[in-house]
Amino acid sequence: MGFKEINAEELQFNPFTKIGKEWMLITAGDEEKHNTMTASWGALGIMWGKNVATVYLRPQRYTKEFVDNGEKFTISFYGEEYRKALNICGSKSGRDCDKENEAGLTPYYTDGTTAFEEAEMIFVCRKLYSQPMGPEYFTEDWIDGKWYPQKDYHVMYMAAIEKVLVRE
Ligand SMILES: Cc1cc2nc3c(=O)[nH]c(=O)nc-3n(C[C@H](O)[C@H](O)[C@H](O)COP(=O)(O)O)c2cc1C
Repeated sequence: MGFKEINAEELQFNPFTKIGKEWMLITAGDEEKHNTMTASWGALGIMWGKNVATVYLRPQRYTKEFVDNGEKFTISFYGEEYRKALNICGSKSGRDCDKENEAGLTPYYTDGTTAFEEAEMIFVCRKLYSQPMGPEYFTEDWIDGKWYPQKDYHVMYMAAIEKVLVRE
């Protein structure tokens, strides 16, 4: 079973439920070493004339080291039968265990980065911009109090969606 490339313009889904309710894996690194984590915050849109994906990583995520060190990363989406796998990847750190193995995921190497064979859809992303968020930029006070009691502000990464792969 493989993947085929489609145009981003052919995509038909609701980004709010896809990201926010079904979740995704953010994966970076290569054959030698890679890491993945679950995310349910993110955005899809247009910037600098390109189709872009934006993701938000807290500084303590091991995956962040791989996203920072590489030119590319992937965002991948899964069927409901992988909810348990996504829960594992969202609650354990690759610093402490081989979580992709525990989650039953098989690495799929593509374009110098990594996703998983079990994915229904993969976005190969090339980083364009990253910026740490800071409390001085919130325009409503509740955000800092509710989401950052430990002051671990997300770093935002905006990336060009270079390739959209869907399961054949
Ligand atoms: C549903 C769900 C959504 C999550 N979304 C994010 C997110 O958008 N950004 C983030 O930094 N962490 C998010 N996390 C937390 C990371 O997935 C989690 O801390 C993970 O264990 C990090 O793994 P790592 O240290 O191997 O990178 C989410 C976790 C879950 C369960």
